[in-house]
Amino acid sequence: MIDKIKSKAEEYFPEIQAIRHHIHANPELSFEEYKTAEFISSKLTEYGIEHETGVAGTGVIGLIKGKNPDKKCIALRADMDALPIQEANDVAYKSKNDGVMHACGHDVHSSCLLGVAKILHELRDEWEGTVKLIFQQGEEKHPGGASLLIKAGVLENPKPEAIFALHVYPHMPSGTVGFRAGQYMASTDEVYITINGKGGHAALPHKAIDPIAIGAQVITGLQQIVSRKGNPITPTVLSFCKIESGFTTNVIPDKLELWGTLRTMNEEWRAEAHRLIKEFTTKTCEAYGATAEINIPTGHASLFNDPEVTANAESWAKAFLGDDNVKTLDIRMTGEDFSFYTLHMPGCFFRLGTNKNDEDFTASVHNAHFNIDEEALKTGVGTMSWIAVNALMS
Ligand code: NI
Repeated sequence: MIDKIKSKAEEYFPEIQAIRHHIHANPELSFEEYKTAEFISSKLTEYGIEHETGVAGTGVIGLIKGKNPDKKCIALRADMDALPIQEANDVAYKSKNDGVMHACGHDVHSSCLLGVAKILHELRDEWEGTVKLIFQQGEEKHPGGASLLIKAGVLENPKPEAIFALHVYPHMPSGTVGFRAGQYMASTDEVYITINGKGGHAALPHKAIDPIAIGAQVITGLQQIVSRKGNPITPTVLSFCKIESGFTTNVIPDKLELWGTLRTMNEEWRAEAHRLIKEFTTKTCEAYGATAEINIPTGHASLFNDPEVTANAESWAKAFLGDDNVKTLDIRMTGEDFSFYTLHMPGCFFRLGTNKNDEDFTASVHNAHFNIDEEALKTGVGTMSWIAVNALMS
């Protein structure tokens, strides 16, 4: 089986590459993946794979049944959306949509999953169980397509026992994959604060309530929630990335706006941090005679890779690629809405190395120069197929 999968991943490489080029050249923003979904659906139809389109918007859900389809079900997930970035790569398959680019590799994820689907479907008499394919919309935008698909029942009928996904990783070379069991990525919540003071003449501060001076206290003070309230063994980041107030040198403005992000890796602490941010901001503003409006819409949960499922997947990957090509990942404070699936079932989110010999294709994701060494497509398709078969048969 391992040799069959390897040779099929090799044989279908030109096709998967062409699929990737098509998706890359025609990127669509989160929750607008209409043509991408249509294209994926056309490929599944071509391969003879039953599937449903338009799930919770643009989601595409496929099913591949092996022998004894009721024995066990696992799910494989790929995301489909692109980012509002103007592509800077000069390649034949450059984005045709101005200001939209597959800069996070979701074109790679979707094309790899189509390759996996083709291989597993062809080999369906040689494995048992059912594979659920999840082509997910809107990973880059809150609330995230995963939570919408889960609400739409995607984790039922049949109910998968485990879920797997891969993600491009420009910090490792093509031909490698990386795993990390346990807590791997952070929760990502947006923080919006408005401080309402009272405008006035800059020379008469005692007649005004200065939201800028208060905002400075709030920004500095809130860092103490991270450094003095959070348990130091739980990674936490609070970054304010936008501040807006005022318009000239001699007028104290009415209000100040502050936008930022809170990231952490423990769901209980995350809720407590929300409470503390609100309390500290409200009371600080109150002390200076101002009022605060604080909005912290809940974003992606933190991503937990099931230790057992991940250890298994890692050992299967080692059998497929060789020990040297399977790396251990560091934890990351970035987020992924794959986390929503892992709140419901054991999951494993692993990384696909995409640079070339650590020299080329090293631009980070979400960068206008991001691209991959396409040799990685073979690794992605082959490794994911092999993990899926083993997860079903174990
Ligand atoms: Ni991504």
